[in-house]
Amino acid sequence: MRPHRALLLLLAVLGASCASPPPVPGADDGSADPALVRGREIWGKACASCHGSDGSGGRGPSLVSVEIRYPVLADQVKVVTDGQGSMPGFSGRYDPEELEAVVRYTREVL
Ligand code: HEC
Repeated sequence: MRPHRALLLLLAVLGASCASPPPVPGADDGSADPALVRGREIWGKACASCHGSDGSGGRGPSLVSVEIRYPVLADQVKVVTDGQGSMPGFSGRYDPEELEAVVRYTREVL
């Protein structure tokens, strides 16, 4: 491969992995639910690296339509709080409200 091609490929890969998470509806006019805005921030920092910015999956499973597998919000919050399988729990890093916020973001925005 010619050197500038390799560089373009590298930029494309970096661009894809740094894509920002989907915005919360109303974020641009200030009418967004602040919990969802905080949830999106946490998602970008703590979850997107494994689940993909848009939640379509990567090292971890896709979380698109995750609310179908977890009809009860609290059950999904528990998975993220305590961890499951090879996913670490996040209780030491975020408080319960923040964990609920990021889970709501996955259910309501992704
Ligand atoms: C180190 C990689 C990694 C990170 C970071 C990570 N996850 Fe996961 N996640 C996984 C893996 C792997 C699984 C599958 C675990 C299993 O059941 O074996 C998973 C499973 C889940 C599940 C359950 C999915 C299902 O269908 O049962 C949810 C919900 C979830 N993650 C949410 C999150 C949230 C929210 C964050 C950020 C706070 C996060 N994850 C961060 C790797 C990760």
